[in-house]
Amino acid sequence: MIYKPDGSEHVVMGINGQFPGPTIRAEVGDTLDIALTNKLHTEGTVIHWHGIRQLGTPWADGTAAISQCAINPGETFHYRFIVDKPGTYFYHGHYGMQRAAGLYGSLIVDLPKGQSESFHYDGEFNLLLSDFYHTSSHEQEVGLSSKPMRWIGEPQTILINGRGQFNCSLAAKFSNTTLPQCQLKGGEEWAPQILHVEPNKTYRIRIASTTSLASLNLAISNHKLIVVEADGNYVQPFAVDDIDIYSGESYSVLIKTDQDPKKNYWLSIGVRGRKPNTPQGLTILNYKTISASIFPSSPPPITPLWNDFEHSKTFTKKIIAKMGTPQPPKNFNRRILLLNTQNSFNGFTKWSINNVSLTLPTTPYLGSIKFKLNNSFDTNPPPEKFPSDYDIFKPPVNPNTNIGNGVYMFQLGEVIDVILQNANQLSGVGSEIHPWHLHGHDFWVLGYGEGKFKQGDEKKFNLTHAPLRNTAVIFPYGWTALRFRADNPGVWAFHCHIEPHLHMGMGVVFAEGVHKVKNIPTQALSCGITGKMFFKPGHY
Ligand code: C2O
Repeated sequence: MIYKPDGSEHVVMGINGQFPGPTIRAEVGDTLDIALTNKLHTEGTVIHWHGIRQLGTPWADGTAAISQCAINPGETFHYRFIVDKPGTYFYHGHYGMQRAAGLYGSLIVDLPKGQSESFHYDGEFNLLLSDFYHTSSHEQEVGLSSKPMRWIGEPQTILINGRGQFNCSLAAKFSNTTLPQCQLKGGEEWAPQILHVEPNKTYRIRIASTTSLASLNLAISNHKLIVVEADGNYVQPFAVDDIDIYSGESYSVLIKTDQDPKKNYWLSIGVRGRKPNTPQGLTILNYKTISASIFPSSPPPITPLWNDFEHSKTFTKKIIAKMGTPQPPKNFNRRILLLNTQNSFNGFTKWSINNVSLTLPTTPYLGSIKFKLNNSFDTNPPPEKFPSDYDIFKPPVNPNTNIGNGVYMFQLGEVIDVILQNANQLSGVGSEIHPWHLHGHDFWVLGYGEGKFKQGDEKKFNLTHAPLRNTAVIFPYGWTALRFRADNPGVWAFHCHIEPHLHMGMGVVFAEGVHKVKNIPTQALSCGITGKMFFKPGHY
């Protein structure tokens, strides 16, 4: 649809005529039946329910070429799954770069009626953060897969609930930018959603990031943020002035409206981790005692410097599990080391894991593995480690990578350790941030370390209050250690949540207990080799 998310007109992917898509709100234990009708005329689509583990319904995970076939134009697919855990989630397209095209929305799971959270709040807000590009996702996709690669660059605008301002600023009179003051009447589709609050109350702000590229930082002038939830898991509450949020993550923070009620305050969102070229996203926290149109009396909070990684690490390390959260098994059955590198393949720029860049097969894995089709993907196991003499502080000595689509197959119930190892980029000096997201599970984050993971580093693992999450970042030149139990039959993507990185191969595929998967709708298998096998409707 044609829309003006930031005041300038573009094509975005909407749902039911809305951008972002409608917020889905459910209660723990509910079964959602979501009918997705593909009204795009020229391409398939799927929707992934980010953070929902899909216990028993791996075919509803919404990952093209992994859990299902893309839904053809005109067709309808029913996602039917149970939401088993309260929290702040979202959904998004998981085919090509449709997330970058704007195919996303919020998914919130409340506690069952009659139950209340362990923290009190009087009201809540929901902020879905994204970054917006003026080039179409198709143009971005073609550029990334061209020789030489054309990088997408930095986003034009940060959107809060699909709203942002391009070429003007809400806070022009404070900043030393040359941007003019935005002229808004209030009804525009790019007008900010104001957070109206009453004094001396507590509010819960749900925040999720579905950015294509940007790592973000959120702050509210004069107000502390008390973090209580991360990725649908409770954390030991802690107070900070600002939070970092990477693509694929979600948080709930509490704020107390205990500041001067005769003033309004800024909520600002800035870019971190990469040299920014995108203005802050802004909205206003309005104390209802005064008009929302009165300007805050001071400038918006300044985003910490993009390369102040210590600030990011300090924040990340404050996140520990709420007391009483199940803790990781003391031992693991299998440990996989995954080296993240930027490489080239016949002159194309790629991202690789242990020197394999993921290229998805045409037949979704769930069907190929379930029906033991040996020729639909590479059945050789992908590498579980990388050469021990690899120098992560230098560009790769041999920049060439392989492409592949092998699967890490786990025994059902095995305890898996994953060590994500960051490294230097393809050329020059530098190492990027990558937020890794796992489908089908939460994992415990055992720790973050500097440099190359080595024998003895596991002594520093946090096995007593490790936070459960579904997304965890690797810092430049560092490693991140995760542990999870492979106890959810299905095939699960594990990948960098930065859309162009995934598109350039930065992901792996895990599978466990697929023989136990039942009731895959035929429609999910109606392409590739499985499509030729099944032509009668029904369940297999
Ligand atoms: Cu939100 Cu596979 O991603």
